[in-house]
Amino acid sequence: MIFYYSRTDKTKAVAQALHEITGLPLYPLESDISDAKGFLFAVKSIAAAFGNKGLPVRNMPESVPEEIYLCAPVWAGEPAGPMKYFIANAGLERIRVHTILTAMTPSRQHRTHVKKLLDRVGAFSGDVLQIATTKQPPEAEILREHIQAWLEPPTEAAEAE
Ligand SMILES: Cc1cc2nc3c(=O)[nH]c(=O)nc-3n(C[C@H](O)[C@H](O)[C@H](O)COP(=O)(O)O)c2cc1C
Repeated sequence: MIFYYSRTDKTKAVAQALHEITGLPLYPLESDISDAKGFLFAVKSIAAAFGNKGLPVRNMPESVPEEIYLCAPVWAGEPAGPMKYFIANAGLERIRVHTILTAMTPSRQHRTHVKKLLDRVGAFSGDVLQIATTKQPPEAEILREHIQAWLEPPTEAAEAE
């Protein structure tokens, strides 16, 4: 299952590419923050970067499979508010979680922050893939290659070649 949050569709394109490659079902997280505009959006989205609670998701799943993918934008250095809420409330203890973060300027800190949130709830966090979204949206072909390489890291033999 691929859980994703996307406000301006860049992360949606990433989640869709992951879905095309893996065949796993997509689960878009819905939040009232998606409809907020201007100053209200700025204040709420930035405020959500502090603390662990995030911003409420309307359609929380009743349970999650043992292994899941999360795709989320970075807001003020943290996973977007609705994804923080999902991580805090979805019952991720002992769940294997692979994360893809989109950001204008990916940084190692983003990765550290999402891993910290996942550790807090007892999830087993796998490798975090970071995708820069300066292009609107990232080109589908490049996106697929990027994700494919993340899913299937080269074997030692291939690397030695
Ligand atoms: C409120 C807000 C805060 C953001 N903060 C950051 C940030 O701290 N660092 C960064 O690289 N990009 C930041 N971005 C850019 C988004 O992470 C990036 O555009 C993302 O790919 C948008 O995904 P979406 O189209 O799926 O909503 C921010 C965007 C918004 C709306």
